[in-house]
Amino acid sequence: MNSAIKPERANPWAALACAASIVLAAADCAALEVIPAQTLARQSGCLECHSVYQKKVGPAWKDVASKYHGEADANQKLYAHVTTGRNAKFDDGHEEIHPVVKTSDAKRVHNLVDWILALPVAAPVDVASAEKLAKQSNCLKCHTVGAKKAGPAWKDVATKYLGSVGAEDMLYQHVTTGRKAKFEDGHEESHPVVKSGDRDRINNLVNWILSLK
Ligand code: HEC
Ligand code: HEC
Repeated sequence: MNSAIKPERANPWAALACAASIVLAAADCAALEVIPAQTLARQSGCLECHSVYQKKVGPAWKDVASKYHGEADANQKLYAHVTTGRNAKFDDGHEEIHPVVKTSDAKRVHNLVDWILALPVAAPVDVASAEKLAKQSNCLKCHTVGAKKAGPAWKDVATKYLGSVGAEDMLYQHVTTGRKAKFEDGHEESHPVVKSGDRDRINNLVNWILSLK
């Protein structure tokens, strides 16, 4: 064996496999479950102040992940942050106790923290679940990821909303309330809604659309 050949430690595929829980070979890579992470975040009220892609009252979680990228003890730090209720500094300068997760199950908390930290480098959302919901809801009749059909290409929707506060909430409304959509030929009709009442699956679909490039 040539000792100059080092194991590929920064292999992005390893990170992807890790986040998507396809292969669980690496010792420090626990199975990451996206939907349960999103569920815990919503149940704990985190989404009042945070979103995955957009800054709200708190920082966008993908920016938190960038900030901690490569930091060895990021995991412990964020675990402490979301379980101990220390002071958080808000944009207007006031401080208040940062909310904690509504569970005492350490495994669920670790899963949420791991998901947040995996956001920019790996699967930010459960892609398979998002695509399945889009298909079930007949969205693909009028939309594709990359090309315009009757509706806009979803990657163009992502570009349009890039960096805008509250995009997730707006799109959530858009795909659940059936408000009027304007078509190219000028006619208007109710925009179809998703065929699911599961908020986490719908949020997952919305986050997937917003993550497209
Ligand atoms: C009332 C608004 C609010 C709620 C609710 C909230 N946060 Fe935060 N969060 C903030 C603010 C503001 C910051 C940035 C200031 C700070 O970290 O001191 C922050 C920072 C963070 C950070 C980054 C910490 C760091 O070290 O950079 C994480 C991760 C986080 N929150 C996770 C969560 C989770 C998980 C929940 C749900 C249990 C949650 N937040 C609920 C306002 C909130
Ligand atoms: C009958 C055709 C049609 C179907 C089916 C359809 N859409 Fe649309 N969609 C449109 C049109 C047209 C627009 C642009 C006009 C508008 O938003 O007023 C649009 C816009 C959008 C936007 C961008 C909204 C914005 O604020 O820019 C999103 C996201 C979206 N659709 C998601 C979905 C999802 C998810 C489904 C499946 C539940 C779906 N669409 C099904 C026609 C359709």
